[in-house]
Amino acid sequence: MCGIVGYVGSQNALSVVLDGLRRLEYRGYDSAGVALLDGAGGLLTQRKAGPLGNLEKELGDAPHEGNTGIGHTRWATHGAPTDRNAHPHTDCHHRVAVIHNGIIENFVPLRAELEARGHELTSETDTEVVAHLLEELTRDGAALPDAMRTVCQRLDGAFTLLAVHADAPGVVVGARRNSPLVVGLGEGETFLASDVAAFIAHTRDAVELGQDQVVTVTRDGYTLTDFAGTEVAGRQFRIDWDLAAAEKGGHPYFMLKEIEEQPAAVEDTLRGHLAGGRIVLDEERVDEQVLRDVDKVFVVACGTAYHSGLIAKYAIEHWTRVPVEVEMASEFRYRDPVLDRATLVVAISQSGETADTLQAVRHAREQKATVLAICNTNGAQIPRESDAVLYTRCGPEIGVAATKTFMAQITASYLIGLGLAQARGTKYEDEVAAEFDKLARMPELIGQVLTTVEPVRELAREIAGSKAVLFLGRHLGYPVALEGALKLKELAYMHAEGFPAGELKHGPIALIEDGLPVVVVMPSPHGRPVLHGKVLSNIQEIRARGARTIVIAEEGDADVRPYANHLIEVPRTPTLLSPLVTTVPLQVLAAEIAQARGYDVDKPRNLAKSVTVE
Ligand code: AGP
Repeated sequence: MCGIVGYVGSQNALSVVLDGLRRLEYRGYDSAGVALLDGAGGLLTQRKAGPLGNLEKELGDAPHEGNTGIGHTRWATHGAPTDRNAHPHTDCHHRVAVIHNGIIENFVPLRAELEARGHELTSETDTEVVAHLLEELTRDGAALPDAMRTVCQRLDGAFTLLAVHADAPGVVVGARRNSPLVVGLGEGETFLASDVAAFIAHTRDAVELGQDQVVTVTRDGYTLTDFAGTEVAGRQFRIDWDLAAAEKGGHPYFMLKEIEEQPAAVEDTLRGHLAGGRIVLDEERVDEQVLRDVDKVFVVACGTAYHSGLIAKYAIEHWTRVPVEVEMASEFRYRDPVLDRATLVVAISQSGETADTLQAVRHAREQKATVLAICNTNGAQIPRESDAVLYTRCGPEIGVAATKTFMAQITASYLIGLGLAQARGTKYEDEVAAEFDKLARMPELIGQVLTTVEPVRELAREIAGSKAVLFLGRHLGYPVALEGALKLKELAYMHAEGFPAGELKHGPIALIEDGLPVVVVMPSPHGRPVLHGKVLSNIQEIRARGARTIVIAEEGDADVRPYANHLIEVPRTPTLLSPLVTTVPLQVLAAEIAQARGYDVDKPRNLAKSVTVE
């Protein structure tokens, strides 16, 4: 949610900042802006509603000198996405410029206070108060870092802030609480960003900021303090992926590239987790005895990650016989769930920043539950605040719609299920190893599906004009149906719903009308044959009412053939692992329908990749 970049060095700041913003645009894209210090006491700001391209046009070809700058791409919270509400925001005298990600919850009284003292605030944002508060403190003689620390102590909510001051050339000051900020360390240049993708073209050496810290960067490096001014140490790390991972690599859009990277995402997530016949959860900081004592598992997550949690439930319950509840993180803490020391909470989040999931984690830990995170972002807030973490190893996912990280989340959940089964003895060591072997074969099967999706693209063009699409599944097909529907909603802006196929007759069947496309995720005839027969009956029910059936079924499933208007075959897969193959055609279908309707597949409207507000 909102992308933030800062730069101090010897390069042209504007070009570094714009390049960083291009790589962060997935975080928010309803407006963008920059602030540059020209080194001679001047502050230039420019901001524009709409995508980054609008700002670039506004800046034109005129050279903008200066080696210090900050930039922002916005996902609007307070105030519509207009030029006036775009960041940066400045003070009354245009000496301080501020950009912000998050929400300042107490901005209303702060704004009233500032207005009473004669400040003129020109936007509807919560952010602008910070610029005016910094103005007062710096006018009274405080250095910008000191002023930032004082201001932060007055703010409630979540924020990453960057500020520059016309009187402090060569300095960018940042602060963070509940929202990400990393420092990039180059040779004679230093970067700040919400995500390392912004500076990966320049350096792979980075420093992670802790909670409630203020960082001051110059071209020679950085200093880090808490809000009280006490110096603290940051955690330095080396980014383990390179620029190529953040580029389209010849693909028309990132999502397609990321769909194709799914076999590797699963393989990399599995790598090293079986050693000497035993499951190894390497970042596991939880004692095996704790896992043995677990009597209930909660999975908390949002959106696609929530769907991976639904899949995890089938596997974990089957392998461990421990009951698993899956809950949308945004609801979790508000209903006072029953948690204690014997509860394991699995928090799934690719970004590790999602505010709803973070708050669920905090609530679970307050209630003394053990929290294990599944995350794709090294050092993000959710893994930091959890007892343990299992990283998915997907590299950056830039398309806003989650694809490869979904596959990796499912894979990591299976690993947790097997780890639990091993610790609790509900599976013998050879059984655990046998399940792992099945998992290890999945990248090949996913690869096979990817070679057969061409007919899905044709189908997508045929149904792109439909007003709605329904998705049905049973057992593990149900979360896959939910995910297929979510992908279509977010990318193609079509009405799409996922239902358990057996639930249809209890109401949703009223939606079926002549020609309505209905996607059915067929269970394998070999897993639970009884389910196969039941879903076949559900298909008959909808065909009898005119539905156009699009069936995803296992190769060789002859029984379903007569009832499928469009048959999409996937390789035979162990039942519990089937979502890893049945999801793929649905991702392709959604992306292709979106393209056929003329939408930006990587940047769907109203969305942002990481949602750092509740
Ligand atoms: C998925 O396509 C969505 N963009 C969204 O549902 C996402 O999965 C959700 O916001 C959770 O994000 P997280 O995994 O970063 O926590």
